[in-house]
Formats: sequence, C-alpha cells, structure tokens
Amino acid sequence: MGIEIDMIAPSHGAIWRNSGVGNILDAYRGWGLTESNDTAIVVYDTMWGSTEKMASAIAQGIIDAGFEVKVYHLGKSELSEIVREILEAKIILVGSPTINNGMFPSVGGFLTYLRGLRPKGKVGSAFGSYGWAGGAVKAIAGELEKTGVMVVDPLSVKFVPGADDLAACAELARKVVDAAEMQER
Ligand SMILES: Cc1cc2nc3c(=O)[nH]c(=O)nc-3n(C[C@H](O)[C@H](O)[C@H](O)COP(=O)(O)O)c2cc1C
Repeated sequence: MGIEIDMIAPSHGAIWRNSGVGNILDAYRGWGLTESNDTAIVVYDTMWGSTEKMASAIAQGIIDAGFEVKVYHLGKSELSEIVREILEAKIILVGSPTINNGMFPSVGGFLTYLRGLRPKGKVGSAFGSYGWAGGAVKAIAGELEKTGVMVVDPLSVKFVPGADDLAACAELARKVVDAAEMQER
C-alpha cells in the first residue's frame, strides 16, 4: 500500500521502531512464506541422561544425512530462541523421558508455546527414554501432529539406550531428513 511505517505497536509483545520495523517485516515475510533452511532442531529434556544420549545420536544422524542441526536442552536454553530457530528450520525433533505416564513438564510448556505459533511445513518426530509403560513419546507425537508437524516414526527406548537403540536413533534421523526432502519436491 506504499505506507511508510515508523512503528509497529501490537496489542501485546514488543514494539518495533525505526530499522526494527524493516527487520521484523522481513522476518515475518519469510515465516509466512514458510521459507526454511536445511536445518533440524532437536529439543529435549532429561532427568538422568538417557534421552540426552538419544538426542546426541539423532543429531549425529542428521549431520550424516547432510542437514545442519541445532540441539537445545530445555533446562538450559531460552524458549524464544528455540522457537525462532524452529520457524526457520525444516525439521523439529522433540524428546522427553516419561514421568508419571506423560512428558516432562518443560517439554509440555515448550509444545504449548510452539502450538501457538502454528509453524508450517515442518517434518519431525518424538523420542525419549522410559522405565516401564512409557507415555511421553506418544503424547509428544500427538501434540506435534496437532501443531501441524508431519510426524515420522516416533522412537521410545527403555532406560539407558544401548548400541542398537543408538543405531535406531540414527535411522530415525535419516528417515526424517528423507521425509523433509520428499516434502520439498
Ligand atoms: C519421578 C519419575 C517418574 C517416572 N515415571 C515413569 C512412568 O510413569 N512411566 C515410565 O515408563 N517410566 C517412568 N519413569 C522412568 C523414567 O522414564 C526412566 O528412568 C527414563 O530412563 C529416564 O530418562 P532420562 O535419563 O532421559 O531422564 C519415571 C522416573 C522418575 C524419576
């Protein structure tokens, strides 16, 4: 419409002024057009380290399949930074140990935040360690699907992952990258 914008002041959130206006409009243009790069984001939390071992094996599998990867431990990372990275990535993998038949609270909070942003055109999966009946991985997969992510073969491992389990993590990474590449065509 050819209108010069000095300031964008939404009803909630940050106010954008001066050069910030151009930057945020460019960013939204990219997000809105679902432009994404060949990057996978691996987000997880863990109590004793088993889900973390899975996250590392998946991350290595992603690199071996030719994508870049960024790994975020929810307990140590800034939510807004993770979500910004996800909007620009093709792949999102979310991991959690099972606690009380469900996912870890930090993972639930993250997925709630992510759902609100309705990321488009993403491929992903869920993974995590459990002790007896599990529950976290299925719950995460369900949440990702509700968010609009195309979910590929969620993976659960009983307690500490062994060599076969870590190989399954690498295989999951490859399948998710394949699915992302297929989606592009
Ligand atoms: C407080 C607590 C609650 C748990 N609840 C469950 C459960 O409901 N079902 C289950 O299968 N495992 C349960 N577990 C077992 C963990 O999922 C298991 O130890 C898992 O390997 C932990 O993964 P992590 O090393 O990534 O934290 C529970 C563990 C803890 C400490």
